[in-house]
Amino acid sequence: DFTPNAFVEETVADLQDKLKNDKVVLGLSGGVDSTVAAVLLHKAIGQNLYCIFVNNGLLRKNEFENVLAQYHGMGLNVKGVDASERFLSELAGIDDPETKRKIIGRVFIDVFDDESKLLEDVTWLAQGTIYPDVIESISVKGPSATIKSHHNVGGLPDYMKLKIVEPLRMLFKDEVRRVGATLGIDPELLGRHPFPGPGLSIRILGDITPEKVSILQEVDAIFINGLKEHGLYDQVWQAGAILLPVNSVGVMGDERTYEKVVALRAVQSTDGMTADWVHLPYDFLMEISNKIINRVKGVNRVVYDISSKPPATIEWE
Ligand code: XMP
Repeated sequence: DFTPNAFVEETVADLQDKLKNDKVVLGLSGGVDSTVAAVLLHKAIGQNLYCIFVNNGLLRKNEFENVLAQYHGMGLNVKGVDASERFLSELAGIDDPETKRKIIGRVFIDVFDDESKLLEDVTWLAQGTIYPDVIESISVKGPSATIKSHHNVGGLPDYMKLKIVEPLRMLFKDEVRRVGATLGIDPELLGRHPFPGPGLSIRILGDITPEKVSILQEVDAIFINGLKEHGLYDQVWQAGAILLPVNSVGVMGDERTYEKVVALRAVQSTDGMTADWVHLPYDFLMEISNKIINRVKGVNRVVYDISSKPPATIEWE
């Protein structure tokens, strides 16, 4: 039987033993795993843990600022690096989903490498790898934007010459959450829906522009906040909005409009391998749709995705 308290105690002692006075670098994503790994390491080695949190410009609305503030509040030694422009300029004109993922993975490594070079005498790289990642280290859809899938022989980035420490590698997701709770991490952070490494880039079908990112951030925020306000967020495994590469005709006052369509998606799942669409209440969908169309300039139509996985995947790209 898994007891989070015992796990924390043993792991902290092991980490202190293994890492001694060494410096460790860790990439925070805002997700549960990297956060729990960071707090655990921080408990063991304090300010010798250097965290890097990269804004790829494809996060949710205000997420970078909010999560960074939360990390500071937790006492973590974290540097926020806003690389939005670098990511968005490298992605300009790209519409192929796998190419988007590869670019984001590569730019992330460049940014992380540049940042870790600024830290002196770091000898370890910590990762929030959990047990399911260990057994299934290759994503169904190809490389994710996490560090682990980018091991390539020869020409290794500098930070990859570091020794690896993965304190959560024997844990399942629910155990990670329990450890996080024992460590006093905010339950809201521990209950966050999964969010893909390539972020909103794979929810903007077709090419990505800063304008499309901000439209989707607004739509997504209305949807996610609505789920929270209506007590539905915790009943859904993952939710988000997708910006479609089509315009449709609408009418506003007595003007014809020709604007973007967004799709909303909410699924129930245990591991993301299979998923059912969630039967969100019609009244809720009506409220969200009205809010989106009234508030988000450039969107005149909202549709709800009623496909399950398989055969549809959770993400559209
Ligand atoms: P799919 O779309 O394959 O998604 O049904 C299953 C789960 O994986 C997430 N996902 C990704 N996560 N990098 C990630 O880190 C990716 O490239 C990626 N693609 C999909 C997706 O959000 C869902 O939780």
